[in-house]
Amino acid sequence: MHSFAFRSFVYALCLLPATLALRIPFSVRSNTHITRQSSSGGVFPVGNTQNSFYFTNITLGGRTISVMLDTGSSDLWVTGSVPNAQDTGKSLTLSYAVGNAAGDIYTAPFSMGGYSVDNQAFLLVSNTSTFSTNIHSEGYDGLIGLGPNSGSSIYKKLSGDAGNNAINRIFEQNSADDYITLELSRRGDPASNITGQFTISEIVPGYENITSMPQLPVETVYKVTDEDQHWQVLTDKDVGVIGPDGQPIKISSIVPKAPSGQLVAVLDSGFTLPQVPRSMSDAIYGRVQGAEWSASQGAWLVPCGQLINLTLAFGGVSYPVHPLDVSSSDFGVTFSNGNPACLGMFQPISSAFSLLGEYDMILGMAFLRNAYSLINFGKLVNGGSNTNQPYVQMLPLTDQAAAVNDFIQVRTNGQNLIGSSQYALLPASQGQHSPESAAEKKHDYEEKILSRWPYILVGCLALVLLILGCCIWRCCKRRRLRRKAAQQKNDELSAISTTSTRKAGPYSQLHDSQSTATLAMQPMRASTLEFKAEYGRDAFA
Ligand SMILES: *[C@@H]1O[C@H](CO)[C@@H](O)[C@H](O)[C@H]1NC(C)=O
Ligand SMILES: *[C@@H]1O[C@H](CO)[C@@H](O)[C@H](O)[C@H]1NC(C)=O
Ligand SMILES: *[C@@H]1O[C@H](CO)[C@@H](O)[C@H](O)[C@H]1NC(C)=O
Ligand SMILES: *[C@@H]1O[C@H](CO)[C@@H](O)[C@H](O)[C@H]1NC(C)=O
Ligand SMILES: *[C@@H]1O[C@H](CO)[C@@H](O)[C@H](O)[C@H]1NC(C)=O
Repeated sequence: MHSFAFRSFVYALCLLPATLALRIPFSVRSNTHITRQSSSGGVFPVGNTQNSFYFTNITLGGRTISVMLDTGSSDLWVTGSVPNAQDTGKSLTLSYAVGNAAGDIYTAPFSMGGYSVDNQAFLLVSNTSTFSTNIHSEGYDGLIGLGPNSGSSIYKKLSGDAGNNAINRIFEQNSADDYITLELSRRGDPASNITGQFTISEIVPGYENITSMPQLPVETVYKVTDEDQHWQVLTDKDVGVIGPDGQPIKISSIVPKAPSGQLVAVLDSGFTLPQVPRSMSDAIYGRVQGAEWSASQGAWLVPCGQLINLTLAFGGVSYPVHPLDVSSSDFGVTFSNGNPACLGMFQPISSAFSLLGEYDMILGMAFLRNAYSLINFGKLVNGGSNTNQPYVQMLPLTDQAAAVNDFIQVRTNGQNLIGSSQYALLPASQGQHSPESAAEKKHDYEEKILSRWPYILVGCLALVLLILGCCIWRCCKRRRLRRKAAQQKNDELSAISTTSTRKAGPYSQLHDSQSTATLAMQPMRASTLEFKAEYGRDAFA
């Protein structure tokens, strides 16, 4: 699951270095979005850098460290030095698109507000010289993975439960309410009164209604790959994503067991840009006049004054996405003619594409700002006593009408141009489509096979059994006939060898069918391995 942490970086960092790093040497310690400080032990203010990184403070070995909050990965890593840390003698290398991060696994006393655990395992990243951006200047010196423990690389590296991740350790010790909640602020939005907050086993005051929102069961991935389990839920049937024209965007899921008309969405606070199927991204931005596909950003560019409506639906509840989140002015991007553009935040999924067909889309920060989210870990706490299914609850935070006003103030200087002809959507037939690369076509094809391998395997086995059954049946039948014939001959001639009949067809046929089975299964296994390697490469290279 560290792959997700990594990808968080890819998408955040690939885009940002050129824009963020050069543009503003902004002060990260700005307190404007870190307001609510709770006296209770489980509510933490969340800092926000340029709507692209969200972080909070932990203490490790007595040192206060700002760490990025990542619901899409499961490990804790920090840079710099940690007092009172014990080296476990184990090391781990995480390779990023932006460089390699290697280090030793240490343990140290960990605390977050009122929660403390001893000997918390973490990766101490000693060499950050290969990071293409200075993470410290972006407001954090590490990352805390808030995903299921089964996805932790440190957990896998250490024996027993010594490597359990921090949030798991907290829940092991305090098993009453195994949930976290997350609320992300939106910078550059003068009308927003939302402050960034992260909580453990508590609800942010004023948002108690979240507990009466529908409980969305966390969709489980195939057992064999439970290290890839993420916080993922199903969109509503047929109306899960409502596009700019007010009509549902209809896309079939790549997840074999997803019910028809529903998509599997991962909630991942480590992704700046939500990752969606390419045809969905095209449906959102392709009908905007003047929209331009940017190959270098791997995303659509649209005029900043273009208001684009987008609403997601889960559990029968609508979650409108703020138009300031559908297209963003945070990245300083320009059209090919040099004019300023806004970045289409719902980016076609490419290297984060699920080759195993485990999810369709990844809802990153630009979506998460629009909902106060609660994740109940349930039985996914390793060593916990809770046997309930994990679930997600979300409280919508964006009021569409207020958001439209807000957009008009921010993007068109208070002038309402929403109905004007320059911002009318093109007819669907004139909509643009972004190009699908050869690599993506290959991924699509591989996914179709890989995601269905359990079925294919069962199918192969059934076929083999069927052929085997047929052979045995025919063999028996033939033998019976032969025996009958032999018996008859025997009656006439008294000596005859029956051994020759044993050499007959059936056995060699059986052999054939066996080798067919091996042939059918061999490439499957090989490509699963290949996939693993490729997944790793994609994710870390
Ligand atoms: C983390 O702690 C530092 C120093 O105590 C403080 O200045 C900063 O605002 C804190 N960050 C957050 C996100 O609370
Ligand atoms: C850090 O890693 C880079 C690239 O692998 C290497 O060139 C450099 O020497 C390393 N620095 C230290 C202090 O190990
Ligand atoms: C935020 O503002 C809206 C309207 O401006 C108000 O209804 C809501 O209660 C406020 N929320 C909080 C937490 O202050
Ligand atoms: C909370 O839920 C109750 C009942 O569902 C509703 O009456 C109330 O208006 C809600 N409050 C807020 C702030 O949404
Ligand atoms: C987007 O939604 C707003 C508010 O509901 C509405 O006024 C506007 O007409 C919608 N835009 C389009 C293109 O449907």
